[in-house]
Amino acid sequence: MKFDTPAGINPIDKGRVIGIPHDRIDGAAKVTGSAPYAYERHDAAPNAVYGWIVGSAIAKGRMASMDLRAAEAAPGVLGIVTHANAGKLGKGSMNTAPLLGGPQVDHYEQAMALVIADTFENARDAAKLVQIDYMPEDGKYDLAAESLKGVMPPDSFGSPADTKAGDFDGGFARAAIRIDQRYTTPDHSHAMMEPHATTAAWNGDRLTLWTSNQMIAWGVGEVAKTLGIAKEKVRLVSPYIGGGFGSKLFLRADALLAALGAKQVGRPVKVAIARHQIPNNTTHRPATIQRIRIGADRDGVIDAIGHEVWSGDLPGGSPETAAQQTRLLYRGANRMTAHRLVTLNLPEGNAMRAPGEAVGLLALEVAMDELAEACGVDPVELRIRNDVQYDPEAGPQRPYSSRKLVECLRAGADRFGWDKRKAKPGQVRDGRWLVGMGMAAAFRNNLVSKSGARIGVDAQGQVIVETDMTDIGTGSYTIIGQTAAEMLGVTLDQVTVRLGDSRFPASAGSGGQWGANSSTAGVYAAAMALRAKLAEKAGYPADKAQFDDGLVKFDNKSQTLAALAGREGLWAEDSMDYGDLDKRYAQATFGAHFCEVGVDIDTAEVRVRRMGGAFAAGRILNPKSARSQVIGAMTMGVGAALMESLEVDTRFGFFVNHDMAEYVVPVHADIPQQDVLFIDELDDKSSPMKAKGVGELGICGAGAAVANAIYNATGIRLRDYPLTIDKLL
Ligand code: MOS
Repeated sequence: MKFDTPAGINPIDKGRVIGIPHDRIDGAAKVTGSAPYAYERHDAAPNAVYGWIVGSAIAKGRMASMDLRAAEAAPGVLGIVTHANAGKLGKGSMNTAPLLGGPQVDHYEQAMALVIADTFENARDAAKLVQIDYMPEDGKYDLAAESLKGVMPPDSFGSPADTKAGDFDGGFARAAIRIDQRYTTPDHSHAMMEPHATTAAWNGDRLTLWTSNQMIAWGVGEVAKTLGIAKEKVRLVSPYIGGGFGSKLFLRADALLAALGAKQVGRPVKVAIARHQIPNNTTHRPATIQRIRIGADRDGVIDAIGHEVWSGDLPGGSPETAAQQTRLLYRGANRMTAHRLVTLNLPEGNAMRAPGEAVGLLALEVAMDELAEACGVDPVELRIRNDVQYDPEAGPQRPYSSRKLVECLRAGADRFGWDKRKAKPGQVRDGRWLVGMGMAAAFRNNLVSKSGARIGVDAQGQVIVETDMTDIGTGSYTIIGQTAAEMLGVTLDQVTVRLGDSRFPASAGSGGQWGANSSTAGVYAAAMALRAKLAEKAGYPADKAQFDDGLVKFDNKSQTLAALAGREGLWAEDSMDYGDLDKRYAQATFGAHFCEVGVDIDTAEVRVRRMGGAFAAGRILNPKSARSQVIGAMTMGVGAALMESLEVDTRFGFFVNHDMAEYVVPVHADIPQQDVLFIDELDDKSSPMKAKGVGELGICGAGAAVANAIYNATGIRLRDYPLTIDKLL
């Protein structure tokens, strides 16, 4: 089905099941532990044995020798996979460095071997006996030192390295008020709950991977390419995922090595990337250095805006596109943005929740706070004055599909009690706490992506939906169930949702906050096809038949879905396809974050006292799961503001704090109160669901609101994240 824009009134608009805050239908299974993770598929592969990854002890260089004799002789060892016996491996197009290294070493903790044994403990013990001698080479590990050598990278995900409009230099030079500042953000780790893990089994030349992966169809392609086998021979199964945040968009070493190991020992093999291996073996959000220049008149109206970003990655890698939102968020005739990439021999940098905007807004929205102060304009009012209803680089011919930033700013400020904020910093005391309020705009692109589904009715009238869409803890099961129920006029418990299996039609997958809107639109398309089949079977005109209460109705007649489905059941499959929509309309989601912090006058300890926000993201398919996405993302924003940082050892090229004891993330006690308001919005140019993404919006700007609140509390402007105590003292 091809999406016609604007979407007219359609069956989703009935809003009987869609838009209701249903609990997650997988919730009980998830919290009781009965939803198995990939490593726990004992049912699927009862005779599986265990693999343990041996990671590289250097960041760059070569292996001089690898002695496996002691490991091979250790108790229970069944085999060892290395580059020497793995056969020729292709390289997937989505991995920057090979997932199995050797003899060349591309980064610290890159997999050099997989030791397979009868038990987990035997595999881990034997792995310590693998003796590797290395010939290290000099590598580059220091972004600040290398940033002067930054080069223009190729386009990344359709995002060009440079953009320009008008005359930035001239506009900036002429401006009455000028802000010119540098901001830095460190490397971040996804720190999702379930580690990367796979159980692999071969049946002849057919491979099944029970794995933890956000993008099933991409994963199948990458496995096939890497192993040099046909895609049809590969099955990925990933029904329950304990978080991804972008770390599971791409194939990782667990999946490849489990497949190779299972082939070598002739039995199913389980591999998990151990928690302490994850930060260096897998991907992370790259650190950035950002320069922002804004030129405005005395009322704060922007005439010139410039944003330059430096980040690093392995050779062949991609930049952190942190200037993305600056291309689209505020007005100004004279503009420039630039992404610069330097070669670093640290582990692979890649997407983490809201890649680009999440750290771009940590800089831009502090710069806006600095501009507000310099102009003497309230920060909320400043953003309202600089609103623009079209893509400001392209001009009015590319309007936003919908944009309710101003509504978010006004409603959010009102609900938070922003009018009680003192503009001058350091004015409010509560006992030993200096108290301040800060705010920031939220912005995240809205992408739509082709997505397919199959939907059927069985003889009992139960509706069954199948798509390879994943649920990474986001609520996909529930909103897909709600979509199917709405479309076919049944209740949610009359719908069975099956996800995360490459045997089902390819979906958009979970990434870039496109999953919810795109995957439900695919279910919409399949449901429209099924409605036509049901109506035809009933002998009713397809465009006039009504679907209510488990019945297909026309005039005064009706028939049950169960009767029409018959003993065989009735099925339909389709996908939703979008033409050049993204060229005709700018699409994004918007919001406004507000935060109140307390800063201890002696210790400089920062406590978030409350947070609130208003968000516009099209139709909210399920207000409960959407709110959960937003508060989780706001929490991640607090982490980015106050604590999260992978510390680079610039001598040896690795992340030192590579476990959950030392990579600090917010816990419940750090997040006292979060208020989320959704602004009513139906985006009829985004999809037939009239929804947009909401999974990443909440992190975008949240950290800047914290930073701005610290400034308001203390008068200390911090531009180097995380904003730790040592920087405040
Ligand atoms: Mo997202 S960082 O595309 O999972």
